[in-house]
Amino acid sequence: MTSKNTILITGATGNVGRQVVSQLLAARSGTVRALTRTPAGAALPGQVDVWQGDLSDPVALEAAATGADVVFLMWPFHSVEPAAAIVDTIKRHARRVVFLSSGAVQDGLFPEQQHQLVGRSHARVEQLIEQSELAWTHLRPSTFATNTLWWADQIRAGDVVQGAYGAVPMALLHEADIAAVAVRALTEEGHERAVYHLTGPEVLTQAEQVQTIGRVLGRPLQWRELSHEAARRRLLADGSFPDTFVEPLLDGYADMLAAPRPTIGHTIEAVTGTPARTYRTWVSDHAADFR
Ligand SMILES: NC(=O)c1ccc[n+]([C@@H]2O[C@H](COP(=O)([O-])OP(=O)(O)OC[C@H]3O[C@@H](n4cnc5c(N)ncnc54)[C@H](OP(=O)(O)O)[C@@H]3O)[C@@H](O)[C@H]2O)c1
Repeated sequence: MTSKNTILITGATGNVGRQVVSQLLAARSGTVRALTRTPAGAALPGQVDVWQGDLSDPVALEAAATGADVVFLMWPFHSVEPAAAIVDTIKRHARRVVFLSSGAVQDGLFPEQQHQLVGRSHARVEQLIEQSELAWTHLRPSTFATNTLWWADQIRAGDVVQGAYGAVPMALLHEADIAAVAVRALTEEGHERAVYHLTGPEVLTQAEQVQTIGRVLGRPLQWRELSHEAARRRLLADGSFPDTFVEPLLDGYADMLAAPRPTIGHTIEAVTGTPARTYRTWVSDHAADFR
């Protein structure tokens, strides 16, 4: 592709989207366009062509997609209801889509057979994209390191982090690494019909993640185990955490505890030439968020 491409980024103010935007700008890879519901608060760089709108609003998406060659699609919904219309609109304008899917999608299962809610919705969006005429790349990341920002209030308030399933092992990902793979797929040939399973470079339990934060901050942080029910009550009382997400999250942790230990993949290095960042690096990059 040439530098004349216009690349539309949805979810551009999110963890991954914001990184995709900044890495595309750094790479000078064409015109970067962003869709956001609130341009005034988006704090996107001045070079970004910002379009106001909700992804599920066909008129807004039609306008933002007009003239776009390539689209980075993130799925902010629990439902798949708007998916067919969204993919159809993208298809009428762009040649290629890079979809931020989820590691929760299991190979070999139809969307309705997926075990987790998030797996069902992302699998259905993947399917719709594959059935369109778009060239596509799916990114299936494991757990984001940014999820551990949910502990920031507790860490600011004291040395104990309370939660359920402290023994759950995760291969946490730095959002900059997910974005780096996305940028390659958005700007280079050779990623068509690829399903990229992305993981961080190490497996850490939630309790070990808290210890890592403590080491970076120079504080004796500890994990305190709560029952599923106690954690449910705590999360429901937390106004910043969506209620509808509480049960899927805790059920997801229970599934992860029962599942085989995650394996480490090397897709990030294979695609970008650079090894995935460690969780310790991620904490250092975000230390101010915990202080
Ligand atoms: N967290 C994990 O561990 C994990 C793991 C695997 C996959 N994933 C997947 O990754 C995605 C989340 O990515 P993220 O963490 O980068 O996102 P995020 O930080 O949660 O950001 C949400 C973004 O979605 C946009 N958004 C929300 N509702 C919208 C709407 N109705 N129309 C248009 N934009 C809307 C917001 O944009 P504005 O507010 O600017 O409009 C914002 O930029 C989800 O699909 C999730 O399933 C997450």
